[in-house]
Amino acid sequence: MPGDAVAELPPPPIFIVCVGRKGQGKSELSWMLWDSWPADRVMIDTTGDLGKDHPDEKTIDLDVPPPSRWPAHLQEADDERLSLRYVPDHAAADYVDDMDRVVGLAFSRGDCLLLVEEMGLVAPAGQVRPYTRKALHMGRHQRLSVIMNMPRTMGIDPLALAQADVIYAFDLPNPDDRKRLADVIGWDRGEVDDAMAGLGDHEYLRFHTKAHELSHWPPLPLPKRKRHAQAHMEEPEEFEVV
Ligand SMILES: Nc1ncnc2c1ncn2[C@@H]1O[C@H](COP(=O)(O)OP(=O)(O)OP(=O)(O)O)[C@@H](O)[C@H]1O
Ligand SMILES: [Mg+2]
Repeated sequence: MPGDAVAELPPPPIFIVCVGRKGQGKSELSWMLWDSWPADRVMIDTTGDLGKDHPDEKTIDLDVPPPSRWPAHLQEADDERLSLRYVPDHAAADYVDDMDRVVGLAFSRGDCLLLVEEMGLVAPAGQVRPYTRKALHMGRHQRLSVIMNMPRTMGIDPLALAQADVIYAFDLPNPDDRKRLADVIGWDRGEVDDAMAGLGDHEYLRFHTKAHELSHWPPLPLPKRKRHAQAHMEEPEEFEVV
């Protein structure tokens, strides 16, 4: 049941980390959490893949650069909430700052869910961007919930990990990443290594900070359309390099 991953989550505001090597299911899990969220939502879809894999006509794509205020006018009169998606332009010099501004938008709105596909871009170790820093430190005051995706625990600012209420950890082949994970959750390093070694493809560990519980989960059942998505890869897009 898709709800499994969402089941028994602490009430919002909640900070969630999804970490693990490429292709293990971080984005799919995040999308299920996103899909189950009942109020306003903001997605920073760094590669644009999440929105392409899960098209939703109710989610509005923000322009580049993003607006400086919450775009309430984009909400249809008969819609209960606003869902926003931001896909950065990686060729723009300040594309990371633009993503940080989107974090700021969600923070200023408050009482919403922010999903960040590549948290390492806005929260690299020792260089957390300003709005991201504010969101990590003060997000709870604004009732901001955040899903932070990252391939590794190393390289990310420790604050991002330390703020997590729940960590979904897929396979981490690098021992340094496992060590950092174990240290952040206050778990024995050897036990984390053993638990990781027991993970099959797309399986994950779930750690609840407050309850101090570590559990092993089977792969999420994916929606049918997703299994066919690979067959519909887009043609490359030609553009002018200036
Ligand atoms: N639970 C699952 N069962 C079967 N296949 C899965 C599952 N989760 C993910 N996959 C497959 O793996 C692919 C990659 O999943 P996903 O995009 O969530 O990975 P990711 O961890 O976000 O990777 P990346 O680091 O590249 O962003 C999916 O498109 C799907 O084909
Ligand atoms: Mg992903």
